[in-house]
Amino acid sequence: MKQEKKICVIGLGYIGLPTAALLANRGYDVHGVDVVESTVDIINRGEIHIVEPELDTFVKAAVNSGNLKAALKPAKADVFIIAVPTPFHEGYVPNVDYIISATKAIAPYVVEGNIVILESTSPVGTTDMMESVLKESNINTSELYIAHCPERVLPGHIMRELVENDRIVGGTTPEATEATVEFYNTFVEGEVLSTDAKTAEMAKLTENSFRDTNIAFANELSILCDKFNIDVWELIALANRHPRVNILQPGAGVGGHCIAVDPWFIVHAGGEDANMIRTAREVNTYKTEWAIEKIKNEALKFENENGRKAKVACMGLAFKPDIDDLRESPALYITRRLIADGLDVLAVEPNVEDFKEFSLVNYKDALVQADTVTFLVAHKEFKGLDIQTKLDFCGVLN
Ligand SMILES: NC(=O)c1ccc[n+]([C@@H]2O[C@H](COP(=O)([O-])OP(=O)(O)OC[C@H]3O[C@@H](n4cnc5c(N)ncnc54)[C@H](O)[C@@H]3O)[C@@H](O)[C@H]2O)c1
Repeated sequence: MKQEKKICVIGLGYIGLPTAALLANRGYDVHGVDVVESTVDIINRGEIHIVEPELDTFVKAAVNSGNLKAALKPAKADVFIIAVPTPFHEGYVPNVDYIISATKAIAPYVVEGNIVILESTSPVGTTDMMESVLKESNINTSELYIAHCPERVLPGHIMRELVENDRIVGGTTPEATEATVEFYNTFVEGEVLSTDAKTAEMAKLTENSFRDTNIAFANELSILCDKFNIDVWELIALANRHPRVNILQPGAGVGGHCIAVDPWFIVHAGGEDANMIRTAREVNTYKTEWAIEKIKNEALKFENENGRKAKVACMGLAFKPDIDDLRESPALYITRRLIADGLDVLAVEPNVEDFKEFSLVNYKDALVQADTVTFLVAHKEFKGLDIQTKLDFCGVLN
């Protein structure tokens, strides 16, 4: 069904491209924008530059239908959706520079009655800041509908979750909330919930901090269990039989560009009042350092016993199982550190083919060659392996 509205999506990465492709498949005329020329070219050929199930089919259909076009510059539209990165600067200071430049880029094209949506995960106050940037460009923002609608999809399931997940919409005015809710209701099957901009911003940060804090609890338990010589996986399975206990699984740390990043936005603004959220981040970061020490000690033990350096297999580099995403990955960080510290490392990542920083080894070859096997990510290939000399930080053998 052809939709009346024209949509301009700024940022064609893991969030923006699936959103643009979905909207185009739902009959919207979508103008996608990215600052990377190769990304624009790939999309205009009907192809994709990221790995995400089903996305290729959606993009191909969207481009072939003529409903999706990518470009380096924005165009006039009824709805603008900003989905650019929100990393942090040195010292965990939130970096909203991409949002500022995306907002400045759309300013010449925004007119009265437009809906301007920020989907990027953002520090509290960013949607208001976006409005200020538009005002500085002499736009009468009282005639726009400006809102935040944080994205909460799970990589690997993005196309389904974009439609099925409940969404939170927080406008800078009640009218903006209402207009934005109405827009999302045209393609979201989940419930679209209304609030104000700041609450919507904080809701997304809260969701990721909740995950981070709960993983920190599991990671701390894993360190304590190692000290007490208790199997943490068995312990958690037993404790979780309590009807009101649900402990998450420990790992080599916490990675990805969401859970390992977003809690810092709260900590930065909340200062000493964000005590537990900061501590959780520190516990999860410490778990990675702790793992490095364990691996080094194991390698040293082998060297002392055998009179030669140990070959250490690092099994997995991605930030979580069965994906190729290496952003903020503790497994990659551990492997890099071990290599930098002079260990003889066999790096394994079955989901990545082309990696320039160091050479990768097939996991079966690594198992044959290794003296010590370290499981960093619970990829499906590693499940059920029968290994004697091992450190399992992700519970893949349990
Ligand atoms: N990936 C996820 O699973 C996920 C989930 C929920 C929320 N988010 C949030 O969504 C936002 C986007 O994340 P992502 O994973 O899509 O990032 P990404 O890095 O995959 O994509 C961002 C894209 O924006 C482009 N870009 C940067 N500045 C631009 C500008 N000024 N104009 C046009 N394009 C520009 C980049 O070239 C890139 O292609 C972030 O705030 C992230 O925290 C991501």
